Amino acid sequence: MKIISIVGARPNFVKMLPIIEVFNKSKHEHILVHTGQHYDINMSDIFFKEMNLKPADYNLGVGSALQGVQTGEIIKRSEEVLLKEEPDVVIVPGDTNSTFGGALAAAKLHIKVAHLEAGLRSFNKTMPEEINRILADHCSDFLFCPTQIAIRNLKNEGILDGVFYVGDTMFEVAHLVKEKVDEVPKRTDIPDQYILSTIHRAENTTKDRLPLIMKELSNLEYEIVLPLHPRTKKKLMELGLLEKFSKEIIFIEPVGFFEFSKLLRESLAIITDSGGVQKEAYWHKKPCITVREQTEWLETIEAGGNVLAEPSDIKEKVELMITKNIKFDDKLYGFTDTSKRILGILESEIT
Ligand code: UD1
Ligand code: UDP
Repeated sequence: MKIISIVGARPNFVKMLPIIEVFNKSKHEHILVHTGQHYDINMSDIFFKEMNLKPADYNLGVGSALQGVQTGEIIKRSEEVLLKEEPDVVIVPGDTNSTFGGALAAAKLHIKVAHLEAGLRSFNKTMPEEINRILADHCSDFLFCPTQIAIRNLKNEGILDGVFYVGDTMFEVAHLVKEKVDEVPKRTDIPDQYILSTIHRAENTTKDRLPLIMKELSNLEYEIVLPLHPRTKKKLMELGLLEKFSKEIIFIEPVGFFEFSKLLRESLAIITDSGGVQKEAYWHKKPCITVREQTEWLETIEAGGNVLAEPSDIKEKVELMITKNIKFDDKLYGFTDTSKRILGILESEIT
């Protein structure tokens, strides 16, 4: 079997790590394509280096642009590689423009598409990620679902064939890197007690909403450590607010996965709008406040470890979650051998 994995943005690298390792060690030919959607060292190379992955076989150098231009370039440049390499299957993770662009390029060339993290829905189509998820699922032959809710969502859209419940590779990664995280030294610029925060969603980085969120974070009675996503940093600079909030919030550069996991592990709680970080908070048994109107990770809410918040009620939700006695369920996300299950399915289904 000849397999191509298409990745491009930070969460793609994390969730594909165990799959890339399993594919590389298998008897199959595996080619890694990086679209170049993320390109800063701390948003891309750092993950390859710390996880001992060799650089991608192709970097398409797409970079940042309006979503139409970026997605278009991903489709166009992925197509060139797919025509040249003629793989049996293309695997795409998550919900970024790289995910959808890669899936569409392959599907239109009649190459089989496997979607990792299929079936997730926030039911908010103003989010670019929701459009990417739906379209990637509808282009896919193999739909690898992390949760039963994801399977139900696909069923509701009439997708019944090729659907597999395999668990979550991010859960697998969290287990794989435990010892590496133990080795990360403590940073001198981080206080002993703090809340870890990440904010980067398009809908939270508008000129109206971003100042509100930052104001609420800076008004909390806890220290806030916030690795700044480049989108958020750029917006704060544009609004002339970076310096002001730097006095009240501990902004740091985006960090590698081991260091982020360490920060998470030692925090009091998490305030985030990230998809992946909501789950990681749960696995690290940390209360999570999600600054969004919906989440595709409903299980974490139902299990009591996560709560949605508007900017104006962050403070109230933080108090609620920090004082609550949450019983975290280790089995909520199931297996730690998801990547092997996925390879096994591809081996038995693709002749
Ligand atoms: C993308 C994903 C989002 C995911 C996030 C993970 C889409 C539609 N969105 O959002 O689902 O949660 O990645 O982090 O695919 N930039 C840099 N350097 C970089 C990358 C980005 O400076 O290495 C800046 C650029 O100004 C760019 C902006 O960040 O315009 C946004 O980048 P982009 O990749 O378009 O979307 P993200 O917000 O990163
Ligand atoms: N992450 C990281 N360093 C950071 C912030 C996040 O390694 O400074 C990791 C985090 O642990 C998670 C992933 O990046 O595995 C989540 O990516 P992001 O929040 O950018 O995207 P989303 O999950 O929202 O699509």
